[in-house]
Amino acid sequence: MPFYTKKGEIPKKRHTIFNDSDGKNFYEELISREGFSSIYSNLYHLNRPTKIKEVGNLEKKELIHAAKKHRSRHINTNKIKSSGDILTSRVPLFFNDDLIISIAHIDISMEYFYKNGIADEILYIQSGSGSLISNFGKLKFTKGDYVIIPRGVIWQLNPIDKNKILIIESCGPIETPNKYRNRFGQLLEHSPFCERDIKTPILQKAVKSEGDYLIKVKTFQGVQNYKYVNHPFDVVGWDGYYFPWIISINNFEPIVGSLHQPPPVHQTFQGSGFVVCSFVPRPFDFHKDAIPAPYPHSNIDSDEIIFYSKGDFMSREGINQESITLHPMGLPHGPQPGKYHSSIGKKHTDELAVMIDTFKSLKVTKNAISIDDKNYPYSWIDR
Ligand SMILES: [Fe+2]
Repeated sequence: MPFYTKKGEIPKKRHTIFNDSDGKNFYEELISREGFSSIYSNLYHLNRPTKIKEVGNLEKKELIHAAKKHRSRHINTNKIKSSGDILTSRVPLFFNDDLIISIAHIDISMEYFYKNGIADEILYIQSGSGSLISNFGKLKFTKGDYVIIPRGVIWQLNPIDKNKILIIESCGPIETPNKYRNRFGQLLEHSPFCERDIKTPILQKAVKSEGDYLIKVKTFQGVQNYKYVNHPFDVVGWDGYYFPWIISINNFEPIVGSLHQPPPVHQTFQGSGFVVCSFVPRPFDFHKDAIPAPYPHSNIDSDEIIFYSKGDFMSREGINQESITLHPMGLPHGPQPGKYHSSIGKKHTDELAVMIDTFKSLKVTKNAISIDDKNYPYSWIDR
């Protein structure tokens, strides 16, 4: 996240001697992107963060494209039977070279630590609340939050109640849209959200403890288990531009117009090879002849995923809360019969949805296919 943040105790200068009151050294760790050439933070530990005690098993993970046909899809993620923590309950649904889209139904806390070494993660909290605790501090989350966890952060997710979470793992960094930032990185006046809406971690007291600390690290081959000597949350301070953060979908202020506004006005994040948009409650278009429902559109260069979070989605028929639709590239799609005309004259929508447009075709896992609505491709036929 491109704004400077400082938490806890740090030395006056980088890379200099920094001791506690007893004269014991703290240990600096640089976490940086693109080698040493992009954003970074410096963390200060009680102990060296490199003290691996045991290299454990590599848990192989492979995603397989199971679709036999190119077509629109509708899955109701309510039907997914998963439980456990955020890793064990995670069910991958769609993927390509740039991202993995999963659902997790979480009912227990993590008893170990996790670091995604190859992807940034966006957690969209569909229901429930809890805490993300990391080496940068604690972030409390609740429904409607986007929790952004850049790769390299060590974290645990502890739910207070049952959590349902939409997860996007991104091979590139998750960023606010270029079009909403000035050349200094500040969010512009016409951005639908600004820095005040962003929550940063609250640094906790550094944990001074030795033991067997299991950290699972996601790599290109799978999840590698490591045991570390020291508790990973032994950080007394950090500063920089790199940290986990939260913005609520409820803080996304919609852009409306006299005529239908296209999806880019809903853009919330940019990734490498995809964008994320938030459809939030808003007044409809105010031209006297406006048709609020979207016009049929042919997404030539992108696959479109929509996760329906809450409310009555104005252009879709037969869609439930927590449904996901996939409208693949190469085909036109739009409102189902009746939805186009019935939207005329409506003044407001209470829909809440997350859209992910990917610029490479998505592959479909057997998890998604097992709950696929086979009739959805025919839902545009007049009844
Ligand atoms: Fe669309």
